[in-house]
Amino acid sequence: MSKKVLITGASGFVGSFLVEKALDLGFDTYAGIRSSSSLEYLQDDRINLCYIDFENLAELTEILETQRFDYIIHNAGLTKAKDEASYYKVNTDLVSTLLQAIERSEIPLTKLVLISSLAAYGPADLTSEGVVKENSIPQAVTAYGKSKWEAEKILKSSSKVPYNIVRPTAVYGPREQDFLTVYKMINQGLELFVGYQTQKLTFIYIEDLVEQIFNIMLIAKSGKNYFISDGHYYSASQLHNYIKSALQKKTVKLRLPLFIVKGLAHITEFTSRFTGKYPPLNPQKVAELKCKSWVCDISPLQKDFDFKPKYYLAEGIENTIKWNKQRKLI
Ligand SMILES: NC(=O)c1ccc[n+]([C@@H]2O[C@H](COP(=O)([O-])OP(=O)(O)OC[C@H]3O[C@@H](n4cnc5c(N)ncnc54)[C@H](OP(=O)(O)O)[C@@H]3O)[C@@H](O)[C@H]2O)c1
Repeated sequence: MSKKVLITGASGFVGSFLVEKALDLGFDTYAGIRSSSSLEYLQDDRINLCYIDFENLAELTEILETQRFDYIIHNAGLTKAKDEASYYKVNTDLVSTLLQAIERSEIPLTKLVLISSLAAYGPADLTSEGVVKENSIPQAVTAYGKSKWEAEKILKSSSKVPYNIVRPTAVYGPREQDFLTVYKMINQGLELFVGYQTQKLTFIYIEDLVEQIFNIMLIAKSGKNYFISDGHYYSASQLHNYIKSALQKKTVKLRLPLFIVKGLAHITEFTSRFTGKYPPLNPQKVAELKCKSWVCDISPLQKDFDFKPKYYLAEGIENTIKWNKQRKLI
């Protein structure tokens, strides 16, 4: 009989690809969603839709008792929010609720995988070796990152549940919305740079990420945690050049000082109160843009799984732009 996996946040960018990978691997796949979630990428008949209200511990416990999942990938999370409390309410508290439900249901879970983030540790700027590693001191620079770190601490202190934590750097690929704003801007002929320092940016293509999440879930020892990027670092200019080349566009370059971008971020955040859609450029994003380096240590992944990404940034961006163009999103 196929093993059962529950993937929370299945309606989102990463979640929808996790669901597809689980189906490819032959799992009996449960997509954890809310009644308000989009089903756009959850159309495969083999998907079992599992409506979860994390506010209702008794109901979640009952779902676990009934379904008796072998694996849970807790991927639901809030990457953008209008206030700090919302990050903790979702990114930290949902982990706590899920752990309580697992413990109450007493299901013999083989593994719980938490999708955290490199943001939980913050940038490499303050590390002695210039690389964020498992034993680096976490120094998150955003409420998002801090809420993810709090979630990690809760999971680590729960002795009963076998687990792994995965910390991706910026994930990109088809279906992703924030980079799409950058592709669109460049497509319109404008290249926007922030500040005057060269940054070391890191990325992971969605297909490579989901493959490694399943390797970790199936093979890694409980308690082992992994950062993931494609192993290279890039400047903002390199990223833009790959986008320009994929779009075959010429651009005008505009470099804005950080304080102007900060001001703009506050304006876009304020106006989002009226649109209800939280903007990709917001004060939390500016805190990240200020950092010099997002280099993280992927040697544990290389050692344990012989990890070599299928996609570095140039090919990944080309695929992503092709996908967006086919759907006339650019
Ligand atoms: N994208 C990245 O660059 C990146 C990098 C590092 C880590 N991560 C982590 O990867 C995970 C997925 O991110 P993503 O980029 O795929 O984000 P996304 O597209 O915004 O998807 C987030 C998912 O979480 C669900 N969710 C949000 N609030 C919820 C709540 N209160 N209760 C239940 N479900 C809730 C959403 O459900 P609805 O559809 O119903 O809103 C959605 O399915 C997150 O944990 C994020 O922190 C992402």
